[in-house]
Amino acid sequence: MTSINQIRASVLSRIKPTESEKARLASLAESIITHINAIAEQEGISASAQLVGSSARGTWISGEHDLDIFIMFQPDVERKELEEKGLYIARKVAQVSQGFEERYAEHPYIHAIFDGFEVDLVPAFNVASAAEIKSAVDRTPFHNIYVSSMIQGLEDEVLLLKQFMKGIGVYGSELKTHGFSGYLVELLIINYGSFVKVLEAACDWKSGVTIDIEKHGNLSHSDPMVVVDTTDPARNVAAALSLDNLCIFIDKACAFLEAPDGSYFKARVPEPLGDAEFKKIIAARGTSLIAIGFAAPDVVEDVLFPQLHKLEDSVREMLERYDFRVYNSGVWADKKAVVLFELESATLPQVKKHTGPHVWAKEHAHAFKSKYKDANTFSNVFIRGGKYMVEFPRKYTGAKKLVESGILNCALGKHVALSIKKEFHVLENEEILSIKDEEFRKFLRKFFEK
Ligand code: UTP
Ligand code: MN
Ligand code: MN
Repeated sequence: MTSINQIRASVLSRIKPTESEKARLASLAESIITHINAIAEQEGISASAQLVGSSARGTWISGEHDLDIFIMFQPDVERKELEEKGLYIARKVAQVSQGFEERYAEHPYIHAIFDGFEVDLVPAFNVASAAEIKSAVDRTPFHNIYVSSMIQGLEDEVLLLKQFMKGIGVYGSELKTHGFSGYLVELLIINYGSFVKVLEAACDWKSGVTIDIEKHGNLSHSDPMVVVDTTDPARNVAAALSLDNLCIFIDKACAFLEAPDGSYFKARVPEPLGDAEFKKIIAARGTSLIAIGFAAPDVVEDVLFPQLHKLEDSVREMLERYDFRVYNSGVWADKKAVVLFELESATLPQVKKHTGPHVWAKEHAHAFKSKYKDANTFSNVFIRGGKYMVEFPRKYTGAKKLVESGILNCALGKHVALSIKKEFHVLENEEILSIKDEEFRKFLRKFFEK
């Protein structure tokens, strides 16, 4: 068995930025910041740029070139003016990049590639404290001040914990992942003191675990994990973390401490699932698969994924309302979006047993009997367990037909609804193999193997 110290050393040699990488990043950040400030001055805009995020505090993983540069405006500026002027400056700076695009989730910003580095140029308000934020991103500079002052000497611990979480698939607070954010990782290290100490503590966590480093007190959240934002007492830093991702981390923390191994730090990349394997798996499982495919709307993942999950939930609810039992479901998106359901069976018998009121519920009983008296049924109205019942032909005996006819009546997010209205396909079992995309086939393997 390899010792934790050997594992730490070998992982760090892989993920710790080298001096030359640090120098390259620092000089690029410096030149972009100078450029932003010069443009602001030329245009007579009162704004100044600042480097924040993991690259400002030496806690980024080597090779993951992500620079978070904020363009700070005075707090009395109107939101509209901040967006217009902020994006104007950002676009102008991005003219010299290798490519850029405007992104909009809760807040608009520019994502650009400079010299192989991914750079987020984010307009924000320079408010007096994190409790007075005008937009969600305004907290970030306060995080930066706090973490920078507390993290010195603990950077390696942050890197190890981030990489461990990446390896087990729970890193990233995006709404696609629902995992741990970089800031959350840093707070865990500050609270417990080291990578191993975080794992030791996590092994004993349960749902509802609360961490309040600055003893702000009285924060009531019903989230699986509550970490009070050191800079804004009303905010839970772990708000995006799902119960399952918290539990995966608890499980793997215990397992790693029991038998330390370098493999925890390497993300599992599934092989694409081939046609023959797929056929073998569904034959062996004996279940049915239904996939809804459509063009992924052109919006950021933080907008798209909540809408895909909404579609997943409302179609699942519809399937169950029509007596189809859903075993598993999942979503995938690239250029195409797919919502996949595994059903106990995609077909049901023609006959449906329908339960009515208790015999002594006179008014309802009367209505029930007269409703089915001359209806097209398989049976007379009969009594079982004190209730009236009738057997009649069900409206949908196939899940595919149900989804095709019912999908537009399901609760859908705005962008997903627009795309589905244009075109969608419902595929059943082997028809799903018409989707050849390698990434989709990797998703399919994970769907079964989990
Ligand atoms: P990033 O997502 O770039 O994270 O957000 P990071 O801390 O720099 O970590 P990596 O290494 O790139 O993965 C930049 C900053 O935005 C704020 C944090 O202050 C973070 O440092 N932020 C981001 C949040 O507060 N919450 C989030 O969910 C995401
Ligand atoms: Mn970052
Ligand atoms: Mn970023």
